[in-house]
Amino acid sequence: MSTPKIIAVAGKGGVGKTSCSAVMVKLLCEAYPDKKILAIDADPAVGLSTALGVEVESTIDDIRREVVSTVENGDTKTAIELLGEAKYRIMDALVEQDGYSFIAVGRPEAAGCYCKINSYLKEVIGLLSSNFDYVVIDGEAGIEQINRRVMEKVTHLLLITDASKKGCQVIQTIKSVSDNLMMCDKVGVIANRLPDEGMADMLDTGDLPLLSAIISDNKLAEYDIKGENVFYLPDDAPIVVGCKKALKAVGVL
Ligand SMILES: Nc1ncnc2c1ncn2[C@@H]1O[C@H](COP(=O)(O)OP(=O)(O)OP(=O)(O)O)[C@@H](O)[C@H]1O
Ligand SMILES: [Mg+2]
Repeated sequence: MSTPKIIAVAGKGGVGKTSCSAVMVKLLCEAYPDKKILAIDADPAVGLSTALGVEVESTIDDIRREVVSTVENGDTKTAIELLGEAKYRIMDALVEQDGYSFIAVGRPEAAGCYCKINSYLKEVIGLLSSNFDYVVIDGEAGIEQINRRVMEKVTHLLLITDASKKGCQVIQTIKSVSDNLMMCDKVGVIANRLPDEGMADMLDTGDLPLLSAIISDNKLAEYDIKGENVFYLPDDAPIVVGCKKALKAVGVL
């Protein structure tokens, strides 16, 4: 198996990271029916499972807690055995969908700090990606997961912004942090939910290439209202066209 392409989607809150991630999973499944594709919902606030209509039973955080409790119960397993066991449990927790596998990071019960689950998530991405050809990671809003090196193994970083100054600032911050902490092959911007396409030229994305511009998508809005699976959006929906263009621009499609 060649080295996996690990695509992470990041950006400010509410700009369309989850919607774009779901559409990219759809596009990869259609383009590569014989490849192994994994979708990871890396947002503790949960999103991708809902967008893709996946029933999640066991999360990465559930597994982490199980493994931690075996250690606390005085089980004298070595670190290697624990990691081996975790891998087995994680493979077991993958939900098999039509054309791809799915796993969610889950929401840690303890309030406040997500750093434990984030460092665990980083290991899990490393463990799992060797079993897949394509991995799509729907990240948490903001720069925390980039800062904590969760995205270290990512090969393609897709930064989403809406038509706002703040959205553009967040992607540029992510870019400057990622320069030191990641070794991605490709980084680029998707401008999403623009009032009209012409507005793309007004966005200040710094030295980041604009891969595609997506206008406000009524079909997606309709799916959203009805709670329908984004996987089944029609091929001519603006978000599907825009995500396809972006994946082609970074050489994934
Ligand atoms: N191009 C678009 N046209 C219309 N609606 C859109 C578009 N992109 C996203 N939306 C809608 O905007 C809302 C937020 O999108 P989404 O959940 O994908 O963003 P997010 O970046 O994942 O948010 P969060 O930071 O909360 O995880 C959703 O209701 C989604 O359907
Ligand atoms: Mg989201």
